[in-house]
Amino acid sequence: MKEAGYAIAVYPGDGTGPEVVREGEKVLAALAEGGPAPWHLTTYPGGGQYFLRTGREWEPEAEAAAESADAVLLGAVGWPGAFLPNGDIAGRALVLGLRERLDLFANVRPCKLYPGVLHRISGHYREVWSPQNVDMLIVRENTEGLYTPVRGRLTRAGQTEVAVDSRVITRKGAERVIRYAFELARHRGRGAPEDGAVRVTCVDKSNVLEGCRFFRETYDRVAAEYPEVERDYAYVDAFTQWVVRNPEHYDVVVATNMMGDIITDLAAVLQGGMGFAAGANVGTDHGMFEPVHGSAPKHAGKNEINPFATFFAEHEMLRWLGERHRDERLFAQAARLERALAATLADGSARTYDQGGDCSTSAVGDRVADVIRSERR
Ligand code: IPM
Ligand code: MN
Repeated sequence: MKEAGYAIAVYPGDGTGPEVVREGEKVLAALAEGGPAPWHLTTYPGGGQYFLRTGREWEPEAEAAAESADAVLLGAVGWPGAFLPNGDIAGRALVLGLRERLDLFANVRPCKLYPGVLHRISGHYREVWSPQNVDMLIVRENTEGLYTPVRGRLTRAGQTEVAVDSRVITRKGAERVIRYAFELARHRGRGAPEDGAVRVTCVDKSNVLEGCRFFRETYDRVAAEYPEVERDYAYVDAFTQWVVRNPEHYDVVVATNMMGDIITDLAAVLQGGMGFAAGANVGTDHGMFEPVHGSAPKHAGKNEINPFATFFAEHEMLRWLGERHRDERLFAQAARLERALAATLADGSARTYDQGGDCSTSAVGDRVADVIRSERR
């Protein structure tokens, strides 16, 4: 560890990104009070709005910092009308670009329902799923699949005739993310809420797609190395109904890139909505942590967005750093953070609009910071 603690490069990005990141910084500062901070944050501008102002997605020093940092914390990128000349979203470099460049092959998205969190279906707040029944990790492949930049258009006489996206599944890409999922299942060891079985579910469409058949074969090959972990399979279409109907069956789920993108938004409904959904983008040497909700332009500048997803992303970040550096202090801080988040959620004292409340973004941050401070050390 360096003297000044772990270097965390922070990219607030666009829209609501800076609002949730500000609260995230507040919460990290509360954790670090009363001792030498085990980390230091450096913030860099970038994203779609930055592109509209400057013609660049970010500056060279911001790019370099992503590579040299111990961890990256990202708010959100994307802004209406902000597109690169090739049609990609401006700010892509900070999210998809970093996933590729830092080789962040696994996107781990915890889907856990905490007591006190409400979920909304069809306009109503309900308690359909009980907290003890929703506690899974969805692991999304993060560097290939349908996101592989093998795509294009055939334009003749100024008119698009054909558009093609190719899905690429490689042996290396499939194997490493599947192995990561098995390691996670083994490591967390608590199993599915339903029966305590340590289980990895392979989500694919192998009844139709060749790449999915290869992904499933790879799953079987890796699974053979983990005889104590239960094998489980779901075609992605069936999975969408099973996960809603019977979330307690799932422990760790692994899926290809685009399918993982879709099923994690669906699963977020089980945990109270996108306001609670965090993503840990991890590879061998780097980690980037982000709320999954995006820049949400229509909520930007209103101090109303739910910052919990960012706090949960920080929780993932502290745990990952703790694991990577075998640093007990970081585990302890991660545990403190989770206790404070759970306590704040349980007493319902900080509900934003998406939870039917009227608490502002900054008031939620204040509340969580207070709970952290009030806990006996
Ligand atoms: C996500 C997002 C991104 C993705 C977008 C912003 C490119 O939806 O992290 O899930 O598609 O991966
Ligand atoms: Mn998504």
